[in-house]
Amino acid sequence: MKKPKIPFPKSGSSKKQLLDSLEKYRLKDIDWRKGKAFCLVYYPGDERAKLIKSIYDEFYSENALNPSATPTLTRMESEVISMCADLFNGDNNVRGNITSGGTESILLAVKTARDWARKHKPQVKHPEVIIPSSAHPAFIKAFKYFELDFVVVPVKNFRADPKEMEKAVSKNTILLVGSAPSYPHGLIDPIAEIAEIAKKNNLLCHVDSCIGGFILPFVKKLGFPLIDFDFKVEGVTSISADMHKYGYSPKGASIVLYKDSSLRKFQFSVYTKWSGGVYGSPTILGTRPGGCIAGAWAALKGIGEDGYLEMAKETMKSTKQLIEGINEIKDLQLIDNPDMSIVSFQSSTINVYQLADVLNKKGWHFERQQLPPSLHFTINYIHRDVMETFIKELKSAVKEVKRFKLSKLSDKLQIGLVKSAKNILPDGVISKFQQTQSKSSDIHKENTSPMYGMMNVLAGSDDLDDIVLDFMDKINSLE
Ligand SMILES: Cc1ncc(COP(=O)(O)O)c(C=O)c1O
Repeated sequence: MKKPKIPFPKSGSSKKQLLDSLEKYRLKDIDWRKGKAFCLVYYPGDERAKLIKSIYDEFYSENALNPSATPTLTRMESEVISMCADLFNGDNNVRGNITSGGTESILLAVKTARDWARKHKPQVKHPEVIIPSSAHPAFIKAFKYFELDFVVVPVKNFRADPKEMEKAVSKNTILLVGSAPSYPHGLIDPIAEIAEIAKKNNLLCHVDSCIGGFILPFVKKLGFPLIDFDFKVEGVTSISADMHKYGYSPKGASIVLYKDSSLRKFQFSVYTKWSGGVYGSPTILGTRPGGCIAGAWAALKGIGEDGYLEMAKETMKSTKQLIEGINEIKDLQLIDNPDMSIVSFQSSTINVYQLADVLNKKGWHFERQQLPPSLHFTINYIHRDVMETFIKELKSAVKEVKRFKLSKLSDKLQIGLVKSAKNILPDGVISKFQQTQSKSSDIHKENTSPMYGMMNVLAGSDDLDDIVLDFMDKINSLE
């Protein structure tokens, strides 16, 4: 029997030993502290982070599973729910919960809709949800977990198309979804129109404001012309918004809100026949980390409207700088004018994945997107001092890619090969292609553009699903 690579430690290590190991591990991590990551990390500055962390630490060991044991956490959660109901223009009837993140909030909103329909639409035997194609994959995860049918409606100019969504409504529909904004392109869907269709057809309407929830209200207050997207819109029945993104709270905190308590009750899980006692759990997690609840509470209270306005102002300033920089590069085209601080661009003249490789080599981190191939930058407060440098390096990277004619040709050949291989080669050959590619998959050093080009070609196919599953399977292999 081959033993696992890392044995269970015989004894504990000192802080120094732990940090020494981490120093080596961390060499390949993204350098977000220097503002080089345009995704994954949101940072409110050292002073605010220190305050939030100190409150997080106070509740590091606590568990919000049993409200009678930790009334302080319950109180903090209730205050967060109330503050968020206010932020999203709800009334005193709004109810909700803190969850571990956007995905959990979405899973819960979808489960709530399913159970609401079981009670209020018993004639629906195969409940179905309608989402725009830009909606976050957490919805697909929810539909698979809760065995719901779903219709993915193509977007129009990158925003949800209410006309097409209305056409998709059937006798089985229970829920319509809109994003404020969608993750890929930072554009707010026409929420009022979607909510109107929901109301007209006696359906629920969820607004996914996971990424925008804690910046849009402040951007709007600063005077940017934004449409209404929250409980101000009649017909909106639930909202998800992540404190651990633009709320700048520690990771592991989002909120799901419902118009009233009769709807939220469908979210809960209760079992009263267990030998361990009567068990009631409001969210998906059993043990609910106290630090995350306390951290979210500390972020909202500690930063306050003034602080969020200041951060939104700086963030929108950096966003404008980036947009102007991109507009000066004739090879790059913005994907619409973003509603907030998410900027994505495509190119009709250069391979954006090659551009990504060049920028990665310079230490910048961001998202590669597909359908169409584009690069995505989420800007937050930490980027206020780096934009000038980034734009300079972006301009020089575009020039570098334009010199790559030869490798560009080989990328094209490879993509072309995969395109035809997709139709004629058996499964497995394609994953061998992936294995060859993955040998050079250190994105900081190697050329990944053929792989991403291939993914664009294969998007949505079973072949690509298999490739991604294989890849995920290898992630923790310690090879
Ligand atoms: C619009 C949107 N919804 C949902 C999610 C999922 O959030 P999480 O990664 O916290 O689960 C994200 C994450 O970026 C998002 O942007």
